[in-house]
Amino acid sequence: MTHPDKAFADTAGTTINRSIFSDSTTHQRELARVFSRTWLFLAHEGQFRKPGDFFTTYMGADPVIVTRRRDGGYNALLNSCRHRGMRVCRFDEGNAQVFTCPYHGWGYNTDGALVTVPDQDNSYGDSLDTSAWGLRVVPRIETYKGLIFGTWDTEIPSLIDYLGDYTFYLDLMLDPDGQGSDVVPNVHKWRMRGNWKLGAEQFCGDMYHAASTHLSAMIVEAQNSHGIMPPTTGLQVALPNGHGLGGFDAYDYWGASGLSEQTVEWMAGLQDRTEAHLGRARARDAVLIHGTIFPNASLLWPRWNLRVWHPKGPDAMEVYSWCILPRSAPDSVRRDLLLDYQRHFSASGTWEQDDGEQWNYATNSHDGFMTRDLPLNYGMGQGRAANTRFPEFPGVIDEVNSEINQRMFYKRWEQLMAEPHARETSAQATTRHAEAQIAVVQS
Ligand code: FES
Ligand code: FE
Repeated sequence: MTHPDKAFADTAGTTINRSIFSDSTTHQRELARVFSRTWLFLAHEGQFRKPGDFFTTYMGADPVIVTRRRDGGYNALLNSCRHRGMRVCRFDEGNAQVFTCPYHGWGYNTDGALVTVPDQDNSYGDSLDTSAWGLRVVPRIETYKGLIFGTWDTEIPSLIDYLGDYTFYLDLMLDPDGQGSDVVPNVHKWRMRGNWKLGAEQFCGDMYHAASTHLSAMIVEAQNSHGIMPPTTGLQVALPNGHGLGGFDAYDYWGASGLSEQTVEWMAGLQDRTEAHLGRARARDAVLIHGTIFPNASLLWPRWNLRVWHPKGPDAMEVYSWCILPRSAPDSVRRDLLLDYQRHFSASGTWEQDDGEQWNYATNSHDGFMTRDLPLNYGMGQGRAANTRFPEFPGVIDEVNSEINQRMFYKRWEQLMAEPHARETSAQATTRHAEAQIAVVQS
């Protein structure tokens, strides 16, 4: 049996132990060791217009309520009542001053404090210290250009340091022309069969699959491409902390897009403004396509899409997906770009379904008696000389068909998995203590 905390099945770092996509022990450990120690994307600031606005999401498997405070900041509260654990907020989003648990009616304010207990005098007398029974509050919330992240870890670096050079690339989506971006209201959500890492690693570094997985969709779309096809060359960029992204060498992406002439023209103007705002290299040298902010937030630059792969057990995930558009885009362009995103990568998107099909069938075979110990090959590009065509781009750069980003993703995952969380060791100590007490009673 392979080790549940090891990503790599060999010392050269070429092969991956496939039980990490199906093993329930691994899943429980990564909730403790990966999702508790990283910055996790929660929501976009544009979803919160006034104090009390809230949005419910997850941090790993933990349900949380993100709320806007009166001072303009944000709280994230564990969405689980301290009485019997019921979810205190069952709405996707809304506005509230108090979250009242449906089970026995305990009420919590937007700071998480327990503020109402029905019939408290008769039921508890003076014995309930309400100040000790508030909702657990996520200790750190930080934002970057509209994106709200949270972490349970009080020790890890700030969000800006965690993202590091990723912001160089992220700004092309979040602030391409100095006027910022805003989120389209409403979040698409859907469930898929497959471990969350299948989505995260593919968006991190896999351009290789596109020509096969998305071939049918590409053939249909080629009719609208005006004879312009993507180049066969490009880049993968591996960054510290397990982040990665990739794209093509420069070409006329928007000319080939099949969008309306007005939108194509507006995008050409945006590219000029991006050059003025962010410099020529970012505006002209490459067309960024895909990326992942470790562990589970991913981006598709040309679809203006940001999504999170929420783990739902070892072999299932739930995607939350946002469309983030330049604030300067006129309504007709916004409509065009939104429809383009929906057609390709929403729940009913053609390209989304292409990807989901691969993860579904791979998952069906991950847990077989013979398959589970058979390593998978992640060696593409290993040992190849660096790609030098993008001297101004930060990170380790390889060619477009490479698995360098996936290898870096799993190196980071393995580092985190190697170190037990303090709560795991105290839980083990508690179990040992309880077992010792049982032994004393029995003797
Ligand atoms: Fe929430 Fe009882 S479970 S009040
Ligand atoms: Fe794909």
